[in-house]
Amino acid sequence: MKIFLDTANVEHIREANSWGIIDGVTTNPTLIAKEGRDFREVVKEICEIVDGPISAEVVSMKSDEMVPEAQDLVKIHKNIIIKVPMMPEGLKTIKRLKELNIKTNATLVFSPNQALLAAKAGATYVSPFIGRLDDIGHVGMDIIRDIMIIFENYKFETQVIVASIRHPIHVIDAAIAGAHVATVPWPVLQKMVKHSLTDVGIQRFLDDWEKVPKSK
Ligand code: G3P
Repeated sequence: MKIFLDTANVEHIREANSWGIIDGVTTNPTLIAKEGRDFREVVKEICEIVDGPISAEVVSMKSDEMVPEAQDLVKIHKNIIIKVPMMPEGLKTIKRLKELNIKTNATLVFSPNQALLAAKAGATYVSPFIGRLDDIGHVGMDIIRDIMIIFENYKFETQVIVASIRHPIHVIDAAIAGAHVATVPWPVLQKMVKHSLTDVGIQRFLDDWEKVPKSK
């Protein structure tokens, strides 16, 4: 499974990328706003750090405006993927961008039907938001399992990005479901790498090393 970082924080992206485990980055207007920086400047910097798909979202609501907005965004870098909200104007945009050879990520997907429509329109990726479904009392991961079966049944090339991840178990479940990508927030990535027994084990090895006689 590919791991994307779900953030626009370049320090976190730089650090995670140095671990050799980051395949791409997803951003959205909320994540960009948190950084308080110019949108294009931060996206360009992310593209210079990570050599992989970098999602940048359009904010127009009409396809006739989304398409030129997307065409402008892809000028930032060859790895830009256009995040398009899941709605009729978004589907139109996905179809038109595919014709222009521009890759898309259908975002704000909350049902297998929405994922099916986005795949049929030609989305490169779909992003089901599982945490937000959990938040309202659904089992978000259920839609990932269903989408994976549907895409496999009809051999769609569209890849599934499990998004709105809240904790490490979401990542494990995404991998068990065979999702193509999990886009992981920085705090979750930090929890994935750590284990209290690893910390205790490292400390014990360091303490015991002190007791080893040294020749110099
Ligand atoms: O990239 C979009 C998605 O991951 C948002 O997550 O935590 O705002 O539901 P969240």
